[in-house]
Amino acid sequence: MDFFTYQNGELYCEGVPAEKIAREVGTPAYVYSKATLLHHYRQVADAFNPVNATICYSIKSCGNINLCKALAAEGCGFDVTSGGELFRALQAGGDPKKMIYAGVGKTDDEIREALNVGIAAFNIESEEEIENIDAVAGSLGKTAVGALRINPDVDAKTHVKTTTGRKGNKFGVDIDRAEGVFEKYRNLKHLRIGGLHLHIGSPVYEIQPYVDAVTKAIALIDRLTERGHKIEWLDLGGGFAVNYKNPDQALPVTEHAKALLPLLQGKPYRIALEPGRYIVGNAGILLTRVLYRKASGSKQFVIVDAGMNDLIRPTLYESYHFIWPTKPDAANVLDARHEERAPVNGETVDVVGPICESGDFLAKDRPLPHTRRGDLLSVFTAGAYGFAMSSNYNNRPRAPEVLVDGETYKVIRRRETYEDLVAAERM
Ligand code: LLP
Repeated sequence: MDFFTYQNGELYCEGVPAEKIAREVGTPAYVYSKATLLHHYRQVADAFNPVNATICYSIKSCGNINLCKALAAEGCGFDVTSGGELFRALQAGGDPKKMIYAGVGKTDDEIREALNVGIAAFNIESEEEIENIDAVAGSLGKTAVGALRINPDVDAKTHVKTTTGRKGNKFGVDIDRAEGVFEKYRNLKHLRIGGLHLHIGSPVYEIQPYVDAVTKAIALIDRLTERGHKIEWLDLGGGFAVNYKNPDQALPVTEHAKALLPLLQGKPYRIALEPGRYIVGNAGILLTRVLYRKASGSKQFVIVDAGMNDLIRPTLYESYHFIWPTKPDAANVLDARHEERAPVNGETVDVVGPICESGDFLAKDRPLPHTRRGDLLSVFTAGAYGFAMSSNYNNRPRAPEVLVDGETYKVIRRRETYEDLVAAERM
């Protein structure tokens, strides 16, 4: 579900034509729909409302302060994973009491910063980290609160680079070692381990891996409770998939909730979730213009002005993003909801960027309507891990971010300039 629709033959983001934005701010440009963002946040919050879950938006997926502000205003908390993300969440008006700090490699400075602002909890990933957080909290005369991240050893059936919950991944503590860890660190002076955390991967298209992981976590909590440990919350992580290809590819979060709520209801501990992609994925598109066309061997290339520095997901994870002209010819106008479909009188092309690498592509062997120099294309479902993973590679200034709210839009991050590219360098 999103608010990117074709009206009168052209793509609109809510009430604003994509072409108007592209003309006024240039391309490439990220465009977000506020209504889509909030719709998905509310969908998650409502789905898990029966267990009164705390939703901590995973800021790594798309961290623009304006988007975070809109979410914070709805009561959303934040999952942060670096000092920079903590700073960003605070700038957005996020409540530290609704923030959790995750990540396998927290530095002492980062731990101090989090403790000093009164972050709700750390998600802790190793025994050495436990000892270090205890020591750093002690040096500040504070008591830290943490959840132990367990590795439940389930297969989330996602890309090898984004699967996190299998034995041998760098994340968490093996579930069969967790009881020993709780015993060993039962009486720390400056750290209370009161929760359990897991995150099995991203994006996860199936329900069963969640059910398996949560079932294992609940059994572990039962064993820990028997041994006298007080577990106050269970954090299920994020990972819910979104529609990259068509409107029915990913399950709505209500389906995940339907499977998980029976396991969670009535438990004496709180529930937390850390969705990123589900909230922002379909809320953003990347607008890019066709620069040139060329043929090479049997291939037809459409060269556009967005490259792998703007959207690295296709080359990094072989991920598919639906791409379509914002003003297709009449036969190729889409229904209200965009969906993967074969173009009428189309062609099969590689959509590639200007970067000097063969890995610089947005789509390979993709059937598309015919396009010409100057045509505007929309790369859909680019809200999550799009701008967030963009870079200045090839010294390309990063694209602007635009937020549409009804009939109006605002540039919420300006296009970088050449001066920005060298601003941190010392001559
Ligand atoms: N919690 C933890 C501990 C995580 O590591 C992540 C994502 C999330 C929550 C949020 O996951 P989400 O709900 O957004 O799926 N760059 C990759 C995805 C990497 C995910 C990293 N961790 C991509 O573009 O597919």
